[in-house]
Amino acid sequence: MQDAFKEKVLAGKVAFIAGASSGINLGIAQHFARHGAKVAIISRSAEKIAAAAKTMTDEGHEALGIAADVRNFDSVDAAFKAVHDKFGKIDVVVSGAAGNFVAPALGMSSNGFKTVVDIDLVGTFHVLRASFQYLNRPGASLISITAPQAVNPSLFQAHVCAAKAGINMLTKCLAMEWGPAGVRVNAISPGPIAETEGMLRLAGSPEAEKAIKARIALRDYGTKTDIADTALFLSTHNAKYITGSIIDCDGGSKLGDAGADALAGN
Ligand code: HXC
Ligand code: NAP
Repeated sequence: MQDAFKEKVLAGKVAFIAGASSGINLGIAQHFARHGAKVAIISRSAEKIAAAAKTMTDEGHEALGIAADVRNFDSVDAAFKAVHDKFGKIDVVVSGAAGNFVAPALGMSSNGFKTVVDIDLVGTFHVLRASFQYLNRPGASLISITAPQAVNPSLFQAHVCAAKAGINMLTKCLAMEWGPAGVRVNAISPGPIAETEGMLRLAGSPEAEKAIKARIALRDYGTKTDIADTALFLSTHNAKYITGSIIDCDGGSKLGDAGADALAGN
C-alpha cells in the first residue's frame, strides 16, 4: 500500500513516546523512526523497553529505551532529561501509557480504580508537564492517547472511562494554556485496534470480536498503522492550526449502533 507521507517527513525531529514497549504506542514509535525521527521510548519494564528500542535500532534508526513509571513524576522528569542530554532537543511527545482490566465498579477496590487513573490520567499529566520545559516553542506537538470510552460510557470500564474523560479535558486545558507559546496539544481517540493488548483484554473471543465489529460503521478493527499515521500527521507542519482537538480514528465506532440489529443486512 502507498504511504500517504513522504518517507522522511520527520527528519531532524526527536520524538518522546510514553508507554511504547508494545502495541499502539510502539507502532507509533516505529512509524516515526521510519519517517526519519530519532525516537525515545519509556515504559515500566527495562527488559521490554530495551527490546522495543532494539526493533528500531535493528532497522538502522536511532532509538533509546528508558525504564520509567509514568506514575512517578521524578522518574518521568529524569527520562526527559536523559533524552534531551542524548539528542539535544525534543520536538514531539506522545503520552500513551495505560492500564486496563474488565471489572464492575463493585468488583474494583479503591486501589484498583486509582491504579488506572494514576497510569492513564495522572501519568499523562506527568508526561506533558515534564515535557514542557523542552518543548516550549512554536512547532512543538504534544499528543495524548485517549479512547472512545472518554465520551461513551462502557460497562465494567468505570476506571478507564473516568481516566480517559480526564485526558480529553486535560488536552483542552493545556492547549489553552500553552497555545500562546505556539505549543499544540491534541489527543487521538483510537477505536478498536487489531492485535493489541487492549482488545485482547476487552474482546478476547471470536464471538466478542464479531459483536464489536457489527457495531463499527466501517465494520472492521483498525490497525496500529492507522493510529501511527494520525500521530504522524499531528506531528507535522500540515497540522499547524490544530490544537485542543480530540481526533477520532475509530472507523466510526463512536457513532453508535441505533437500530443495528433491526437493520442487519442493509
Ligand atoms: C479487579 C483488579 C484487576 C481485575 C488488577 N486489579 N486487576 N481488580 N479486577 N481484573 C486491582 C488489584 O487487585 C489491585 O488492587 C490494583 O488493581 C492494582 O493491581 P496491581 O496488579 O498491583 O497493579 P500494577 O502491577 O500496577 O498493574 C496495573 C494493571 C495491569 C492496570 C492492573 O493490568 C497492567 O500493568 N496493565 C498494563 C497493560 C494494559 O493494561 N494494557 C491495556 C491498555 S488498553 P488491590 O486493592 O488488590 O491492591 C486500554 C484500552 C482502552 O487502556 C480502551 C480500548 C478500546
Ligand atoms: P499496551 O500494548 O498494553 O500498551 C500499554 C503500554 O503502557 C505498554 O507499553 C506498557 O508497558 C505501558 N505502561 C503501562 N503502565 C505504565 C506505567 N505505569 N508507566 C509507564 N508505562 C506504562 O496496550 P494498547 O492496547 O496498545 O494501548 C495503547 C494505548 O492506546 C493506551 O493508551 C490505550 O488506552 C489506547 N487505546 C487502545 C485501544 C485498543 O484497541 N487497543 C483503543 C483505544 C485506546 P510496560 O508494561 O513495559 O510498562
